[in-house]
Amino acid sequence: MADGIEIGFGPMEQGGQGPGGSGDLVVFVGDDLALGSAARTALGSAGADLVAKAAASEKFKGRSLSALSLPAPAGIHADRLVVVGLGSEKDRTKIDWPVLGGFTASKVSSRSARVVLDWPGTTVSAAQAGEFALGARLRTYTFDRYKTKKKPDAEEKGGTALTLLLAEHGTASREGEAARTLSEGVILARDLVNEPPNVLFPEEFAKRASELSKLGVEIEVLEPARMRELGMGALLAVAQGSVREPRVVIMRWNGGPAGEAPIAFIGKGVVFDSGGVSIKPGGGMEDMKGDMGGAAAVVGALHALASRKARCNVVGAIGIVENMPDGGSYRPSDIITSMSGQTIEVINTDAEGRLVLADVITHIVRSAKPKAMIDLATLTGAIIVALGQDIAGMFSNDDALAANINAAGEATGEKVWRMPLIPAYDKAIDSKFADMKNTGGRHGGAATAASFIKRYVEEVPWAHLDIAGVAMSSNASEINRSWGAGWGVRLLDRLVRDHYEAR
Ligand code: BES
Ligand code: MN
Ligand code: ZN
Repeated sequence: MADGIEIGFGPMEQGGQGPGGSGDLVVFVGDDLALGSAARTALGSAGADLVAKAAASEKFKGRSLSALSLPAPAGIHADRLVVVGLGSEKDRTKIDWPVLGGFTASKVSSRSARVVLDWPGTTVSAAQAGEFALGARLRTYTFDRYKTKKKPDAEEKGGTALTLLLAEHGTASREGEAARTLSEGVILARDLVNEPPNVLFPEEFAKRASELSKLGVEIEVLEPARMRELGMGALLAVAQGSVREPRVVIMRWNGGPAGEAPIAFIGKGVVFDSGGVSIKPGGGMEDMKGDMGGAAAVVGALHALASRKARCNVVGAIGIVENMPDGGSYRPSDIITSMSGQTIEVINTDAEGRLVLADVITHIVRSAKPKAMIDLATLTGAIIVALGQDIAGMFSNDDALAANINAAGEATGEKVWRMPLIPAYDKAIDSKFADMKNTGGRHGGAATAASFIKRYVEEVPWAHLDIAGVAMSSNASEINRSWGAGWGVRLLDRLVRDHYEAR
């Protein structure tokens, strides 16, 4: 498998027999090892016999996400045969299409492969093939921009071309296009998370987000002078220890009826979080280049929505800052005034994300009047303690919105788990000297952080996704081998598709 992948669609007949050569031929079988008719035609009787024999000698049982790879016999138009297992009949009723696509792409070893999407009892739809293609693209992503010696493999092969063969190939190119643009959004987010902060400082981040204008997204960039006029004292306090100026980027995609209230996505964009004066320990501090995973997801989602011309009004807003210790830094005991007018006593300069979000949220609530608002932030280590690295924490003031996000999470595999917001958490952030303090003590750290943000959302239906565990340092999966996961792009795209788009 090489980095970079081209995916096309074709009719089943292209699986057919012919002279030798021409890359991999991929077929699928369940645990009964039975081939579909198109797969059988593609392999011919010699190929089918070989598969049966090889399966027996290699102990290949057709289990879900297992594979058998062999040299193709004479008379088959391929160099290698790859047989991918789909498991039991029950497994085959609940196929995760992106996962199957990712797994299959990882088993392809030639420059090109034809993938016969055919097995007994199933007709693969164009939409399913599109999801398969999405998984294949995401799996083959690698971030090697800063390796001066690429893997010889990647250099030689350049990329892999997959042709997905299916009965419904007529409508597949449209689904394939949707998969391509969505994968581009995820990959954009991954790139942003993986980039180091000396390259991706706030101004550069704003520049990259501004490139969405090519897709018809309206871009507004706020510089410090404008932030001061607006009174963004909380965001500016975090930024004041860094030599890199902060930016706020507002991205508007107006694909819905003119004048209709938008849905708002807000992202935490701390390009590097040293902790500031309340400095973090050295071990693992390098991971804090990923503290902009929320902002990356928002940019990636806007990219995906604009690329597919979603029929919905969306506003994305990201607060981009660097949190550094310096003679000019903000400090514990400072009292700062947020754009909302509420004052905040700083207890810990490492609880900076909520300060950034507070001002961006106030600005969007007042200027865009959104009908719903979702913020994404790598906000707390506490959410990782509570939920681990495979599911994000969700806090919400609106049951319907929370249910919709939950459904989108289930549909995409970017899962969320709803956490409580109760008055006790809110009480924990009351301050002796100001309206609130920026930490709530040792207990319930993710919940007190969420309660802090809640004080800025006014009456807007809102959900906060704490993605500290899922955005970076990701567990390897069938569709992701990257440190930065691009988590949230598919979730937001799906949420819009299922609940906010005019049909
Ligand atoms: N960016 C961190 C949270 C984080 C930790 C993200 C680990 C990803 C991995 C955040 O700004 C932070 O430092 N939070 C503190 C809050 C505390 C000082 C109240 C935390 O979680 O320890
Ligand atoms: Mn921090
Ligand atoms: Zn942070």
